[in-house]
Amino acid sequence: MQNEEVKKNYLKKLKKFNDCNKNYYEKSKPLISDAEFDKLKIEILELENRYNFLNKTNSPSKSVGFKPSKNFHKVKHKVPMLSLGNAFNEEDLKNFEKKIINFLNLENTIRVEYSAEPKIDGISASLIYKDGKLIKGLSRGDGTEGEDITQNLKTINDIPQEINSKNFPNEIDIRGEVFIENNDFKNINTKFANPRNAASGSLRQKDSAVTAKIPLKFIAYTYGYAKEIKINNQMDFLKNLKLWGFKTNPFNKKITSIKDLMLNHRYLEEKRKEIPFDIDGVVYKVNNFDQQKRLGFAANAPRWAIAHKFSADRSISEIKNIEIQIGRTGALTPVAKIKPVNIGGVIVSNATLHNEDEIIRKDIRIGDTVIVERAGDVIPHVISVDLRKRNKNFNKFVFPLNCPSCGKKTIKDYNEITKKKDAVRRCPSEGYECEKIAIEKIKHFVSKDAFNIDGFGKKIVENFWDLKLIRFPQDIFNLNYEKIERLEGWGKLSVKNLKFSIDQKKHISLAKFIYSLGIRHIGQENAKLIAKHLKTAVNFFKLTNQKNLENLSYIDGIGTTQIQSIKKFFLNKTNVKVLSRLDENLLIENMTTINNNGLLKDKTFMITGKLNNVSRAEAKSLIEKNSGKIISNVNKKLDYLIAGEKPTLKKINNANLLNIKIINEKEWLKMLNKTG
Ligand code: IVH
Repeated sequence: MQNEEVKKNYLKKLKKFNDCNKNYYEKSKPLISDAEFDKLKIEILELENRYNFLNKTNSPSKSVGFKPSKNFHKVKHKVPMLSLGNAFNEEDLKNFEKKIINFLNLENTIRVEYSAEPKIDGISASLIYKDGKLIKGLSRGDGTEGEDITQNLKTINDIPQEINSKNFPNEIDIRGEVFIENNDFKNINTKFANPRNAASGSLRQKDSAVTAKIPLKFIAYTYGYAKEIKINNQMDFLKNLKLWGFKTNPFNKKITSIKDLMLNHRYLEEKRKEIPFDIDGVVYKVNNFDQQKRLGFAANAPRWAIAHKFSADRSISEIKNIEIQIGRTGALTPVAKIKPVNIGGVIVSNATLHNEDEIIRKDIRIGDTVIVERAGDVIPHVISVDLRKRNKNFNKFVFPLNCPSCGKKTIKDYNEITKKKDAVRRCPSEGYECEKIAIEKIKHFVSKDAFNIDGFGKKIVENFWDLKLIRFPQDIFNLNYEKIERLEGWGKLSVKNLKFSIDQKKHISLAKFIYSLGIRHIGQENAKLIAKHLKTAVNFFKLTNQKNLENLSYIDGIGTTQIQSIKKFFLNKTNVKVLSRLDENLLIENMTTINNNGLLKDKTFMITGKLNNVSRAEAKSLIEKNSGKIISNVNKKLDYLIAGEKPTLKKINNANLLNIKIINEKEWLKMLNKTG
């Protein structure tokens, strides 16, 4: 009889669980809070554990698509949420403007107009409105895919849930910053070190009732996707945001010269203490939307915006020890262990010393009293030594000549361009022979911009390494879950969640896959270029054959440094083995270009000489936007050589020899339906 009761109770809970799950996934409408959902799941799993007679065919532990407790539902951003490049001084701003002027081919007399907006140090969010109603709210996530935190965002008073203004687009995602004011932060009892962390933590609460208790604020500043928006510039957009009911920053300002940008920066830096929330710089955006569109994006940041950071906070401390860390590419980085000191609200106990040359240049020794600087998200570093406090028995620091991890003799590369030896000393291990490098490689593999495996952070990599659960990236896909479940701090549910996160990432784009391998000099941008060129994982694996490496030299943007590095990578047998094991475990998507049906589909171009209507950079971007490809030397694969003013004769001659079509700027613009 009792068994019948248990069974009934179990089936009731199971039905509720499945209903909630279905509603969440198919209708994006949770019936219960995340916390209740998790509680329900745990209750079901506990019943299953206790009563063997239950039929577990429909157990949540068996379904792949169930909602992991710690993870929010993931949603792809229609327009990626990118970050911004940084500027620290006037020189950086001049360079930023120079690039804009060059790209847009503007006359030197024309002034670029900017919207200058204080950079709030909070958490960005994207609010999707349809027909005036807030239907979804996402976190930034990895920039491509955010977390569905709608319920939590809806608890924020500054976020309008319904907008009736006539000119509010039918569909738009409004972006802005969620933050906590400094006074509010002082008054709430939290475990977080600063308002930013507290805002982030509250937004990721599973129970929105908890979020509602935190005094979160929202300031809007941009949009991602918008259907038929009739606004021409950022300043007007900000005005409209206000009319639509959003809060905007009262310090936003239109500015037209670097001199005034600098003055405004200084003014805000002084005002900083009076402003009720943390700001860590000023964001400059090209005001004109047409110009923004033309400028477009580089790897991870728009060309039309930059963050001008405030100068950093500094404090005095003492060097207790100098430790050598080994990075993913083998670089030996000295890190000073310092007497803990509060710098701008954060307790700092480590400061980077960059490299061997830097220690020699600043003559930094253990025991020294030093000035340490910390700026926002940048790693704290040692500025200088107070020599008056130097004691005679503080010895010069001797930099290790052998890798502290594997003992191999370290090297300093010779830089062909600067004709100097590199400042960085490296462990020469290429594959996974050096333990510390291997650990760092795996950390990189699971990191946000690479495989982005939820819940698989640096600490877990170290922990699993110590337990011999992982040695190579492929081990992540063949984990001994039974063993993990028995570890302290782990349980059935957390293991299920981990497995879910890992399984989800078995499907990966070629560009991310290449990036995740952590090949030196192959960052996100280069990985994208290579993926675009090679198109398939099979082609990438073919690089094992040295002959195929030559192919890469046709890619505009990939030079000898990158090719040498890839060559070294493929020469290492362990790397090749890792690739083949990963291939067995993963589904690597072929590269498809965003607009693979553009006007220049499958055509390759090369430009020589000066163009009159567009800059070189814009021409490149136009070709790519229209599915064409740029290559960097004249060869059989080239379809068109675009010859501007004063072309390089050698290129013209080579093109003639190979029977390649030579066109002028006008003819090329015609291909794009544009007239020059
Ligand atoms: S514009 C592509 N405007 O800074 C445009 N961002 O590093 C990027 N932020 O993730 C956003 N205040 O969290 C923009 N007025 C402002 C901002 C702002 C703060 C943050 C935002 C973003 C980060 C960029």
